Amino acid sequence: MDQTTDLDNAVSLEWIRAIPKAELHIHLLGAIRPRTALELARRHRVEFPVDSLEFWAPFFCTGNLAQFVERFILLFPLLREKEDFERVGREVFEDLHADGIRSVEPRITLTSHLLRGVSEEAIGEGLAAAACYAHETLGMKVRWIVDFPRILGLQVGRLALEAAIRGIPWGVAGFDIAGYEGPGEDDPAYCAIFARAREAGLHLTAHAGETGPPEHIRIAINEWGVERIGHGIQASRDSDLAEELASRKIPLEICPTSNIALGAVPDIYSHPLETFRQQSLRITINSDDPSLFGTTLSREYLIAAAAFGWDRETVLKIIEEGWLAAFPPHDLYKQSEC
Ligand code: ADE
Ligand code: ZN
Repeated sequence: MDQTTDLDNAVSLEWIRAIPKAELHIHLLGAIRPRTALELARRHRVEFPVDSLEFWAPFFCTGNLAQFVERFILLFPLLREKEDFERVGREVFEDLHADGIRSVEPRITLTSHLLRGVSEEAIGEGLAAAACYAHETLGMKVRWIVDFPRILGLQVGRLALEAAIRGIPWGVAGFDIAGYEGPGEDDPAYCAIFARAREAGLHLTAHAGETGPPEHIRIAINEWGVERIGHGIQASRDSDLAEELASRKIPLEICPTSNIALGAVPDIYSHPLETFRQQSLRITINSDDPSLFGTTLSREYLIAAAAFGWDRETVLKIIEEGWLAAFPPHDLYKQSEC
């Protein structure tokens, strides 16, 4: 290969940014601008352990997943009013647009706001207004995914499901279980929750095998019937499962920096995503909580491309996989009402 061809095929941040991308795994509050979060804390008189931008990402990047989730929870009280949800949504969409993202499925933990006394109207109207701004001004598709933290149990799961169904008219398209993967995953009551979500026309995904055992991924695909897996990296410990994921073409929402920051893998070179790719699993690249981990979706592609020696064609194929695995809007969602 001569030098010109090499340069022509170079994968740079600028090159990745310029390609329209779909982001499948991002938490709205994990993408909040740090400055906005600190401002909202002051306005609503919420005590927040970080009061300066320089300590923002280090605060979230220390410790394991369970400790991270404890810190993530501190973000919920920062949003109280419709204007807060709209502002955070708009700013996140502007940042994602600048990174070349043209389709996004932000996760929102409705119950964590509702149980703190925020009205469902405030949340729905604020988020719908932000999504309309994304559609009309930025030309970006937004499909909301409602998640619930498994640690809060089945009752909260049921509340989340009902809120997600009521949210379909303002753009909820998917349903997810998140948080720390503790015991109790095999409780059959989860099946009923996911079955009802599917009947309501919601698309299903689940955080599974992020740090929890491969069995969690099996339960999610075989008992809950999810269409995609959030993370799923522990499938690397179970070759039968990896084969099953490949043969059933189940997309994995891989979030490299998140896995490194929370200690699920020691570094990018140890990340199973390249092995998965070579085993023909459907991998997609995502950012999870870009503000908290100090990353962007384009940077996630770049880190993986640099570590695994991907050329442009390989990166383009994975970007295409993100588009193919994206959830369509719900039939009852009326974008025309923007
Ligand atoms: N909530 C926000 N980020 C998360 C992650 N990486 N895993 C589980 N729950 C989360
Ligand atoms: Zn996540």
